[in-house]
Amino acid sequence: MNIIILNGSPRPKGNTAVMVAAYRDGAESAGHKVTVFDVCRMRIAGCLACEYCHTKAPRTCVQKDDMQEIYPALDEADMIVLASPIYYHGLSGQLACTIHRIYAPGYPRRLKKAALLLSSGSKGVYDGAIYTYMHSFLGWLHLEDMGIFTAAGDENKSPELLERLRAAGAALSDPDEHNVARLVIRSGDVVVRAPLNQTQAARDLMNRLPTTLEGSDSGLDYCCEFKEGAFDGAEKQQGWQNGDISIADGWFAILHSGQEQSQGYRVMPVAHLSEVDTALIRALPEKATFELSLEEPWK
Ligand SMILES: Cc1cc2nc3c(=O)[nH]c(=O)nc-3n(C[C@H](O)[C@H](O)[C@H](O)COP(=O)(O)O)c2cc1C
Repeated sequence: MNIIILNGSPRPKGNTAVMVAAYRDGAESAGHKVTVFDVCRMRIAGCLACEYCHTKAPRTCVQKDDMQEIYPALDEADMIVLASPIYYHGLSGQLACTIHRIYAPGYPRRLKKAALLLSSGSKGVYDGAIYTYMHSFLGWLHLEDMGIFTAAGDENKSPELLERLRAAGAALSDPDEHNVARLVIRSGDVVVRAPLNQTQAARDLMNRLPTTLEGSDSGLDYCCEFKEGAFDGAEKQQGWQNGDISIADGWFAILHSGQEQSQGYRVMPVAHLSEVDTALIRALPEKATFELSLEEPWK
């Protein structure tokens, strides 16, 4: 898995940096790719609250500083690790600024897991940092917690701490089946769930949920007008399998029938329904309303 670590300590050989190195060693020994961003050595300003990212250019920050290095890495990451010294009972200012700038992309595309590394002078000073982590990362971004690791006073740089961090990094496994995000489609009493795939269009869809669409049955699919978001043209395919859900050419389509005659069409599958769920969709009335949402598998 791709892991990014945001190190919020300004001291290159300090306590936080040593925690980061141990966790990184462990994760790399298990085959993960780890990228550390020393955010205090980068030029990262605080969020301006200009809303450019939510009005003028979706997912794009108006400020062209060193966050431009972090944004693409964030979108490719499966896991994010926040590492910080405790300053005034919270995260360091530099790390807080970096976190606030995640406001622009909103939901990083692949992120599924998170961990928190904290170093402090005293014991029992972590509530503020843990609150941010629990609510903004685990809750808001729907991430699975892979552990909170703290070191106070003499615990810093101790062999026991570093061994614990190495072991935790080494024990990380790839996001498993249970963590696949699922698209929930509700129409009246019918509720079906379809695992989303890893295409860019699927990840983009996650950022646009929940939404409600009106559709009508063509006999092959339910077609709902739905403006295309981001997608990679190379991921389009010729023809469909019954149960495929496609977003292409301004349509959200639940392709419930006709796979045999589908070779002439290009589609962009983002998810796939089971046979049973496909049959439930096929039996809906000709005009139907679909409420789309994202299942939160980690709650
Ligand atoms: C500005 C500042 C504020 C701090 N605030 C706290 C605090 O509220 N509670 C605490 O236990 N330690 C506090 N400390 C101590 C650091 O959290 C501690 O020394 C930590 O191990 C430093 O990590 P580093 O070596 O990665 O810089 C503070 C240090 C600084 C410089």
